[in-house]
Amino acid sequence: MTDFPRGFRWGVATSSYQIEGAADADGRGPSIWDAFAAVPGAVANGDTGAVACDHYHRMPEDVALLGELGVDAYRFSVSWSRVLPTGAGAVEPRGLDFYSRLVDELLGRGIEPFLTLYHWDLPQALEERGGWRSRDTALRFADYALVVQEALGDRVTKWTTFNEPYVSSIVGYGEGRHAPGAREGHGSLAAAHHLLVAHGLAVRALREARPDHEFGIVLNQSPSVPVTGSDADAAAARRHDLLLRRQFTEPLFGGAYPEDYEETFAGVTDASFRLDGDLELIGQPLDYVGINYYYRQHVADAPHRDPDPATRTSIDIGIDTTRLPDVPRTAMNWPVEPHGLTDTLVGLTRRYPDLPPVYVTENGCVYPDNPGFVDQERIEFLRTHLAAARDAIDAGVDLRGYFVWSFLDNFEWAHGYRPRFGLVHVDYGTLVRTPRASFHWYRDLVAEQRAAV
Ligand code: NOJ
Repeated sequence: MTDFPRGFRWGVATSSYQIEGAADADGRGPSIWDAFAAVPGAVANGDTGAVACDHYHRMPEDVALLGELGVDAYRFSVSWSRVLPTGAGAVEPRGLDFYSRLVDELLGRGIEPFLTLYHWDLPQALEERGGWRSRDTALRFADYALVVQEALGDRVTKWTTFNEPYVSSIVGYGEGRHAPGAREGHGSLAAAHHLLVAHGLAVRALREARPDHEFGIVLNQSPSVPVTGSDADAAAARRHDLLLRRQFTEPLFGGAYPEDYEETFAGVTDASFRLDGDLELIGQPLDYVGINYYYRQHVADAPHRDPDPATRTSIDIGIDTTRLPDVPRTAMNWPVEPHGLTDTLVGLTRRYPDLPPVYVTENGCVYPDNPGFVDQERIEFLRTHLAAARDAIDAGVDLRGYFVWSFLDNFEWAHGYRPRFGLVHVDYGTLVRTPRASFHWYRDLVAEQRAAV
């Protein structure tokens, strides 16, 4: 692989609910994922994040492993309900102290913390007051963000507000596949907007307190490709692109809501959640944007459940995403198409002239384990996607770093513990960590790249 630019950041990523466990430790309040995972049938195999990788108690051991891996950066998230057990009001110092110790361990090993404030685990107490359907949650988020910055801002300088607001809003409040398990059209679009408002409020407040810090947001992005050349499939792919991408990227980087929003969601929402001044707040300049890329989306037109747009209330946009191309797939059944990463990065850069510098904040895969954890397929997946990222740099993308998802095997949301994304295998019975071959491969790659620049 050709060399990456000087200063390129090599990292790995995780998130709080997926790895920490210790759900009741040190005054932590429940999050929507504790509540959702307790609903029979919500998560495969009845799995929950109660123990997960027990990272909360094994953090120093895990950071030592990060040190062995030799990464420059570690992307992790803070659990809001560890810091503010009911989402607002009293701070739990023991929760904050965990992240403070984590940051110290990282810095002690020369690893830069990339902190995400929200990776899907809303305090349950706030959900009971409307959750992301309610604008008030956005105000509470900004307060929470300041509490964390106040405690860690002397050592953390990279702040991501949200991870994949599409998933929090549409998958959580629209499709019901994620916490809080709601199936609402208007509610999920309101949630999407309020997440963006929360992002804007937090960036404004955090930047005012520390103008020297860097602020960004992480979005899941990938091309929505029509399965045929028909006009109907092209229109379906465009609706899909609106729902997954443009309802976020246009207000963030284009200064407006997409022009096809109203027509696509007619009947579903009157967008009454939008207030004057929101677009300025949402669109304020950022220091970076993180892109999570996994696979291209193949979209076909399909009948709406309710054919009359005027009475449609669900988030159903009349698409079918099950017609996959004849290409290799991972164990998640996700098509492996590395050039989709190049297209994503180049596409965003061309579309938004003011796009801030970019990081690939997640990329990774699941394959069945082999004896001895020789995960050659994962190595090949990462190698080809890194080559695709390199192509994007050659095409003019200001790409500053790359994070593998994930450092450890972890709780893969509604799929439970079965899908294993880690460079490190976790035995959930003994909690023993075993680096896979891909761990060693990535370690060598990072070392070589560092030596080359
Ligand atoms: C994106 C999410 O941010 C992360 O939490 C999840 O585990 C990976 N994708 C894999 O699905």
